Amino acid sequence: MKVTVVGAGGNVGSTVVDVLAQRDICKEIVAVDIEKKDGDKTFYPSKGRGLDQWESAPVNLFDTRINGTVDYADTAGSDVCVITAGVPRRPGMSRDDLLEINANIVGDVSKKLAEHSPETIIIVVSNPLDVMVQVAKESSGLPYERVMGMAGILDTARFRAFIASELDVSPKDIQALLMGGHGDTMVPLPRFTTLAGMPITHFIDEDRLQEIVDRAKKGGGEIVGLMGTSAWYAPGAAAAQMVEAILLDQNRIFPVCAHIDGEYGIDDLYIGVPVKLGTGGVKEVIEVALNEEEQDLLNESAKAVRSTLDEFRELMNK
Ligand code: NAI
Ligand code: 2OP
Repeated sequence: MKVTVVGAGGNVGSTVVDVLAQRDICKEIVAVDIEKKDGDKTFYPSKGRGLDQWESAPVNLFDTRINGTVDYADTAGSDVCVITAGVPRRPGMSRDDLLEINANIVGDVSKKLAEHSPETIIIVVSNPLDVMVQVAKESSGLPYERVMGMAGILDTARFRAFIASELDVSPKDIQALLMGGHGDTMVPLPRFTTLAGMPITHFIDEDRLQEIVDRAKKGGGEIVGLMGTSAWYAPGAAAAQMVEAILLDQNRIFPVCAHIDGEYGIDDLYIGVPVKLGTGGVKEVIEVALNEEEQDLLNESAKAVRSTLDEFRELMNK
């Protein structure tokens, strides 16, 4: 099995490579990034990080070969490609600037990946996530079930981690569901959250649970506030977990940014929903019966994603 990670010289991409390599579930990881010029010097972050990571193999005891490169020919025949390439939002940069820059990067990268690996599955991580997945779908020309985005596992992991801290229990025993776009309108669902199968509402009162929900929704911003840049350990681990589910045909049920058309009453949109993930990508979108309040929140989130998508289309038509 062969996996490509684009943006692997950066924080999230290099974490995906590291987590996957240590799981030792693929033959080769191709770590792609761009050249970086500094005066008359040229640096190759993906080659540097890739080499450093490969040199950890004898200590961390894995066989997965890590090949750092800037050449897409090396990615040929990849079973799964993860795209973390892009720029983070910098001071003075508008949301539209970010949208335009990252859409151009993700579009270009997706096209090249599909050209070299027409059978591949693409997992997008770059932000703004839900729209970048649509960009990858259109640029790669791959079928819907083979283009998806990572956000829900991360957002749910934050929610689960906060609940585990609150109750002083293992995070392994917290299960949770979250839907919607990756942003302020994401929809954590306490009604579908359990501690070892027991409803979480038995353990945490409504007001406190709402505070935890709010913290999870702002989880990305909390990290940016602490570090001055966005998170990478949890995002990288979450993307690697999706790759693992696909490579090992695990049929895991994860919240994934997947294409829906009619499910949850929403037409033709990439947005976070529970799916069955295994060989071939998204095998099934799982529909659970939402109550009126939950459905309203999901509709609101879909509206927000659609509005960013409209902004993107306007920018591209300028
Ligand atoms: P980073 O700046 O550390 O890494 C990005 C990498 O992309 C850099 O090494 C850069 O050289 C590379 N890159 C830029 N243009 C490229 C191109 N045309 N081809 C190949 N590589 C290219 O940023 P970080 O922290 O790794 O974040 C990456 C992206 O992931 C950002 O858009 C960030 O907002 C997003 N993100 C999304 C999350 C999610 O839940 N979906 C969570 C965390 C981050
Ligand atoms: C996160 O949620 C910024 O999307 C990034 O950490």
